[in-house]
Amino acid sequence: MTQDEAKLKAAQRALDFVQDGMSLGLGSGTTSAIFIKQLGERVKQGLRVQGIATSDASQRLAESLSIPITTFDQCPELDIAIDGADEVGPDLALIKGGGGAMLREKIVAGAAHRFIVIADSSKLVDTLGRFPLPVEVIQMALPLVSRKLEALDLNPKLRHHPDGSLYITDEGNFILDCACGSIPDPAWTASELRGIVGVVEHGLFVNMASLALIAGDDGVREVLP
Ligand code: A5P
Repeated sequence: MTQDEAKLKAAQRALDFVQDGMSLGLGSGTTSAIFIKQLGERVKQGLRVQGIATSDASQRLAESLSIPITTFDQCPELDIAIDGADEVGPDLALIKGGGGAMLREKIVAGAAHRFIVIADSSKLVDTLGRFPLPVEVIQMALPLVSRKLEALDLNPKLRHHPDGSLYITDEGNFILDCACGSIPDPAWTASELRGIVGVVEHGLFVNMASLALIAGDDGVREVLP
């Protein structure tokens, strides 16, 4: 099975958890985009759901498929958030934010009764950290935050687009990608990052996911924390 086929299988399985009338968190990234397209098909067939998107790109995609979009004003609680991940580690600790959307992704996942991760099996790891951990930073605080992340041996590197221009998040912030190699205690690292003034959010999701749907050659596995 190719990686794209696995992403499709995980996204399709996630649809089994969606019921008529639900409010959904719509993730970001390629796997989530596949899910949103599948959801759009169901909406076309009459499924009634509403969603809150985790990025401008996902919102545009959902709107293009006529999936109703709502806000936390109108809908403060979501039934399920469905999103991809860059790494899925023990206890379903995650690294997210490869697509730069981890701030809204964490807000949306935190507002959902269930947070379901969809991924191909290449995302499963024994220890988080091979994928660079994204840290979203207020622009003026960049030099200060960089120094603090260096002191934590996190090896921060300012994110750029492939054309060399600076990467700016949907919320107008910079991202420092921390290629530290290994994060043996994600809860500890998350709490250190949380304590740095100027860090808006980071891509460690600890104790948030309730289920991961991991697709590979052996089918779609349901992984619990
Ligand atoms: C977006 O900011 C990320 O958190 C994505 O959810 C994550 O990078 C997974 O993306 P893919 O499904 O494209 O691998």
